[in-house]
Amino acid sequence: MSSSEIFDELNPPPRLMMGPGPVNVDPRVLNAMSMPLLGQFDPAFTEYMNEVMVLYRQVFQTKNRWTFLIDGTARAAIETFMVSTIEPGDKVLVPVFGRFGHLLTEIAERCGADVEIIEVEWGNVFDPQQIEDAVKRVRPKVVALCQGDTSTTVAQPLAAVGEICSRFDAFSYVDATASLVGMDLPVDKWKIDCVSVSLQKCLAGPPGIAPITFNDRVADLVNRRKHIEKGIRPEGFEAASGPMVASNYFDLGMLMDYWSEARLNHHTEATSMLYAARECARVVLKEGLQAGFDRHALASKAMVAGLEGLGLKVFGDKTNKMPNVTGVYIPDGVDGEAIRSEMLHDFGIEIGTSFGPLHGKIWRIGAMGYNCQKHNILTCLAALETILRQHSVSMPAGGGVDAALAEYRAAGQ
Ligand SMILES: Cc1ncc(COP(=O)(O)O)c(C=O)c1O
Repeated sequence: MSSSEIFDELNPPPRLMMGPGPVNVDPRVLNAMSMPLLGQFDPAFTEYMNEVMVLYRQVFQTKNRWTFLIDGTARAAIETFMVSTIEPGDKVLVPVFGRFGHLLTEIAERCGADVEIIEVEWGNVFDPQQIEDAVKRVRPKVVALCQGDTSTTVAQPLAAVGEICSRFDAFSYVDATASLVGMDLPVDKWKIDCVSVSLQKCLAGPPGIAPITFNDRVADLVNRRKHIEKGIRPEGFEAASGPMVASNYFDLGMLMDYWSEARLNHHTEATSMLYAARECARVVLKEGLQAGFDRHALASKAMVAGLEGLGLKVFGDKTNKMPNVTGVYIPDGVDGEAIRSEMLHDFGIEIGTSFGPLHGKIWRIGAMGYNCQKHNILTCLAALETILRQHSVSMPAGGGVDAALAEYRAAGQ
């Protein structure tokens, strides 16, 4: 790099980000992020905070009063929930079906939990009965699991899980980072105690702020450890008898005070990220939740048809496939990383690699949020076909685009 280049205006190369996330941000969201900053106690700004709560209640399909934002990426919200609810020695059950189940396990362990996991092979999900049997056996305080685990491209059916947990007096926590808005997650109907996400997948925003929702049961649990920083304590405040939460930044009790009418000072809110989160929710709700689910489902059908039309094999349990990301086996004898690199270099298209037992075996191709549009699916398939043919993989010419287009045509698009 020459010394003058570093002082040039920032000019990232144009990319079509068809990986497992982050994906291209909706231009409306980018615009919102460039709006002037306000102080966090400016009434105009606190009104935006209130609007964020109203909007995300609709996105999460919940009446939970406690629905707001945690500053940080997806794992910031996971840590917030865990560090504020788990005390050392508490039992936590994690059904693991991919990399992010292991992340939940690790975070719970860092909070001092006695974690028990159940596992299925990557690409599969649990029968709800397996979860119920484990809950019966372990009797955990918290059951934590993902909805969609992007590492495996499959999604755990959750309709019964909240109810199973409540029957055994356990708290249910769901990491829906990769799936919310791409597929249904009616938080209240499915009786899930806490759900958290981030913006960089189907919400079509940037990474860096994490919406969370939790019910009064969780709030009561957290309030048993209620503590307020000395410098801002209201007169007469007495800390609760439970142990102080080990993180100041992620102390849910203090965050509740910050977001509620109390407006008790905590961190300096990440203003531009809040603008982004607000705009993401507005984009999603303007389209309508069901219309968004349908758009992702159709794109998934088209992507699968397109990949199979090229003679490629789709990875994982198809009945529980995430609609917004598709795993596909790398053909024998092909260097998966070379293909990804040529996709990026020649077409400006990013597709995803994979982790753990799937590393080197599958690519992960996402179509989510703003990117989940017909022309992006077709462009990606056309590019993949071209590069694979150049690597001597024989495939029906145009078979991918034709098959994907047929799905869109059948849907009247
Ligand atoms: C299901 C799931 N959980 C958690 C994360 C971690 O997100 P972050 O990197 O934003 O902390 C991801 C990221 O891909 C994810 O897909």
